[in-house]
Amino acid sequence: MEFSTKAQSPEKVRTGCIVVGVSEGQRLSPSAKTLDIASSQHLSRLLKQGDLSAKIGKTLLIHGVPGILGERVLLVGTGKEKNLSDRDYRTLVRSSVLALDGTGTDDALFCLSEIPVAGRDVEWKLQQLILTARETGYRITRVADQQDPACTLKQISIPTPGKIKPVALNTLISQSQAIANGLAITRDLGNLPPNLCTPTYLAESAKAMGKQWKLKIEVLEQSDMEKLGMGALLAVAAGSRQPPKLIVMHYNGAAKSQKPVVLVGKGITFDTGGISLKPAPEMDEMKFDMCGAASVFGTMRAVAEMKLPIHLIGVIPTCENMPDGNATRPGDIVRSMSGQTIEILNTDAEGRLILCDALTYAEKFEPDTIIDVATLTGACVIALGNEAAGLFANDDKLSEKLRVAGEYTGDRAWPMPLWEEYQEGLKTNFADMANVAGRAGGSITAACFLARFTRKMRWAHLDIAGVAYKGGKDKGATGRPVKLFCRYLIQRSGH
Ligand code: BES
Ligand code: MN
Ligand code: ZN
Repeated sequence: MEFSTKAQSPEKVRTGCIVVGVSEGQRLSPSAKTLDIASSQHLSRLLKQGDLSAKIGKTLLIHGVPGILGERVLLVGTGKEKNLSDRDYRTLVRSSVLALDGTGTDDALFCLSEIPVAGRDVEWKLQQLILTARETGYRITRVADQQDPACTLKQISIPTPGKIKPVALNTLISQSQAIANGLAITRDLGNLPPNLCTPTYLAESAKAMGKQWKLKIEVLEQSDMEKLGMGALLAVAAGSRQPPKLIVMHYNGAAKSQKPVVLVGKGITFDTGGISLKPAPEMDEMKFDMCGAASVFGTMRAVAEMKLPIHLIGVIPTCENMPDGNATRPGDIVRSMSGQTIEILNTDAEGRLILCDALTYAEKFEPDTIIDVATLTGACVIALGNEAAGLFANDDKLSEKLRVAGEYTGDRAWPMPLWEEYQEGLKTNFADMANVAGRAGGSITAACFLARFTRKMRWAHLDIAGVAYKGGKDKGATGRPVKLFCRYLIQRSGH
């Protein structure tokens, strides 16, 4: 899907379709009004017949409107409020794309930036339009059988917003496209079946992506991990035939002297729970347990395509959590790379085990900021549902920046506490810590576990268990939190 701008008035644009808003009470948006006048009130006559409910996202496709060059007009309901919410605006875009998908036109002029959205400017509306349209046009890549037909809408144009300089406008469009591209590869990786998307596959994909986007890629093998003393990561990998990998991706958009931001993504390519085996229902969804890793892939690619002037490093510990004769047992004690010992009481709490060694490893990059991202706990889904990621940080300013980046993009994260009191639950008589505490506050005690490995760094942790993918009939990876990360990094870079 491509995006461009059009300077002409909508009735003069030669296009397959012009998309305009109509609010309740048959009030026409400015562009709808222009088309109405050009067509000698053709639109208002139709509306009087009651063919369009102006409920948010309801659409009516009209052919052969006289007096205009466009072949069709798509009326889209904008509801009754003067100012739309962020969510309603995205609904407009999504329903417009869906209404045009499968029709005979592959291009359309979207006159939606003129619709007022509370507290949002034209830049925001433009970026949301591009991201939402791309997300709506996304298709799962089938590996086994025939591909679903691609979205037929290929070209979206937008009336040139007066207030933005042409250079800034081009940057905005290409940045939004880069983010959408990153988001799509995050979804692609997440959606792959776990027999194909193995740690080795992720390592090979990283190398391929590195070639294309000029990222330096390093892959640490099991023997390297042994030398480094990554006893926690290795304990998780022990029950699988698939060798573990630690993937490191470097993007150098700034002077070497600039301290990097490091993103660490959980890459469990399948989580059976190990010897603490998970129940059968919905276990297939544990192929999504590498969505944190996938979001690091997507963000690295987006940042490289945007050429942001920052220093960014991605670190991905990846393995499978399987039960077999060599698997780790509940009660086993291992030594992490940090030197701290861990009593593994539940082999299903494996994410924190691979992350703790990756976080310790990342210390050598002397990060300015380190952020890990993981489908870490079912408890986070109980706490926040499927709307917000859990946001934990040992620095309040960092937490606020991430929260705001999520709010801006609609890829939200919500702050959770990390108080020392919660550390109590991880105490054990047999090692420095256990890998689980009681059921209460499970997402917090998981974050507290990670906090023991990041004391020397400015650190945040995003628990994306509830937001990284959808279950049920819409089953699939969402690409979150790529938009949050990109917004945070763009803001940081000042571009
Ligand atoms: N990958 C799961 C967390 C998860 C659960 C993600 C549901 C998405 C949906 C993680 O490895 C896990 O199993 N966590 C355990 C921790 C428990 C044993 C302390 C959990 O949440 O049950
Ligand atoms: Mn698990
Ligand atoms: Zn897991």
